Amino acid sequence: MKKKLTRLDLQKMKEKGEKAVWITAYDYWTAQFAEQAGMDMLLVGDSLGMCIYGYESTMPVTMDQCVYHSEAVRRGAPNTFVIGDMPFLSYQVSPEESVRNAGRFFKEALVDAIKLEGGRCVCPHIKAISESGMLVMAHIGLTPQSSGQIGGFKAQGRTVETALEMIEDARAVQEAGAFALLVEAVPPEVCKIIRDEIKIPVYGLGAGLDADGQLLIVADMLGIFQAFTPKFVKRYANVGEEMLKGFKAYVEDVKSTRFPEEKHTYKMMDGELAKLKTALEGRS
Ligand code: KIV
Repeated sequence: MKKKLTRLDLQKMKEKGEKAVWITAYDYWTAQFAEQAGMDMLLVGDSLGMCIYGYESTMPVTMDQCVYHSEAVRRGAPNTFVIGDMPFLSYQVSPEESVRNAGRFFKEALVDAIKLEGGRCVCPHIKAISESGMLVMAHIGLTPQSSGQIGGFKAQGRTVETALEMIEDARAVQEAGAFALLVEAVPPEVCKIIRDEIKIPVYGLGAGLDADGQLLIVADMLGIFQAFTPKFVKRYANVGEEMLKGFKAYVEDVKSTRFPEEKHTYKMMDGELAKLKTALEGRS
């Protein structure tokens, strides 16, 4: 049976130069397949708002939605390191509220860690959660919960000023107690500087090869999410096309009475059909 990784395993992987591989997952069966495929980690991202609920952004996502989906993923992947994602306004208000909400993920969904977005501005929250005994992953660069403020889903850290800000953020979240850092949509050179500057693992989503591991959004890499595809996505399968093919074939079969066939039906027990007919005749 696969052994679930711990924070120390992830740290050792960074030190040995062994890449960690992870995707987002929002449901039981995706988690099962991901565990079978050998993923090191799973993120129950608040991207579920866009990928599962069809919202235009992640802003409307609630704690309950994130906790319920994390529970399903935990059940599907009992031996994989699962990270719950703190949705918008579940941690920004105060360190106290962030501890209470982070705790829900651990108590109700049995996650291994939580993730939250932001750098220096959320350090008091990271410190409070981590000092309460919970593992926190920080997330900088393109932070979707602030996409309105940063002008959309845009790459970050492309100028000296913004790259320096990001490096300061990375140092600060490590200092505050984050066990790992996710860097999204930044130039590879900036990700490499951050990776070399701090001791904790630095994972990338659209941040180049030098990150300590790679994350992809499951609905992007499987070709399910239709609204847009970020530049950093590699599509590994066309599940959306396969689904459409299957649904269309089913529609055609039912409309033309090609389904169900005899092999899809149950037979009455021996002699029971004749008895049923007799019983029906007796009633009329
Ligand atoms: O919610 C999510 O899937 C995320 C990724 C974009 C990193 O936070």
